[in-house]
Amino acid sequence: MSAVLSVPGGVYPDVPAPAHKPGPSGTQITIRGLTKYFAGWPLYENFDLDIPKHKIVSVFGPNGCGKSTLINMIAGLVPIDSGEILFDGKSLKDTKIGYVFQNYREAMFPWMRTIDNIAYPLKLEGRSKAEVDRRMQELVASFDVKFDLRRYPYELSGGQQQTASIMRALANNPEVLFLDEPFSALDFEMTLFIREKLQEVFMQTGTTMLLVSHDLEEAVYLADQVLLLTKRPTRIAEILAYDDARPRTVETLSEASFIATKKQSLEIFQREVRR
Ligand SMILES: Nc1ncnc2c1ncn2[C@@H]1O[C@H](COP(=O)(O)OP(=O)(O)O)[C@@H](O)[C@H]1O
Ligand SMILES: [Mg+2]
Repeated sequence: MSAVLSVPGGVYPDVPAPAHKPGPSGTQITIRGLTKYFAGWPLYENFDLDIPKHKIVSVFGPNGCGKSTLINMIAGLVPIDSGEILFDGKSLKDTKIGYVFQNYREAMFPWMRTIDNIAYPLKLEGRSKAEVDRRMQELVASFDVKFDLRRYPYELSGGQQQTASIMRALANNPEVLFLDEPFSALDFEMTLFIREKLQEVFMQTGTTMLLVSHDLEEAVYLADQVLLLTKRPTRIAEILAYDDARPRTVETLSEASFIATKKQSLEIFQREVRR
């Protein structure tokens, strides 16, 4: 956009209009002036947020506050009314993203074998068979896959399906991975397994992750930052940093810094739901 400045004695064209305030260095996603209404009611109004690069941000807040809508707007699945969302200064269409849905049963293409579901993003990119095979081998190794990927998704257990859908989301090495309550339909054992795998992938690749979780322990356990949201119209209640070393383990759960971050998150959450 350009503005024309009128000053006594002349006109100076092409003075650039002020851009939105950029995020601090190391910001991956910059959200400015985001506004979203549903049925005439504001969910987000003039909402600003910076999401750091190579970090895991857990999104936590009251039921219905707009956690899913927030990540869906950033991922381009839900249109915004106004505002701007930039990825490292680029638009979404110039950014590779991956998305893991809560409901894994509806996330895979049922007519494709699991292996073809996982390879789908690579085929969309026009990768050669050799490249696809190499990447599939890497994914199988890093997820320690013990089940038969030639099966159709409906032939797999829930945990296996969700493992496959995370593999698909990571197949083309996205810059940002969105996860909307990825563990909520899984049993405890599978939750622990996938949580550890996600942490390993993160430690290997540094992929920026935005994780919605309704389980506070899980939200803190994986996070570098806990983004706490208010009731709607939704604002940032607080952003808590949690920087215990990785890999985090069962031991982490009893460390003072973990317990303190969880407690503080819970206090903010309770303050916001009572407000
Ligand atoms: N497509 C839609 N049409 C109307 N209202 C919606 C739609 N999607 C979400 N909402 C409303 O927006 C609010 C936030 O929804 P959501 O983002 O799913 O919340 P959360 O994930 O935090 O539980 C809720 O009040 C929900 O009813
Ligand atoms: Mg939700």
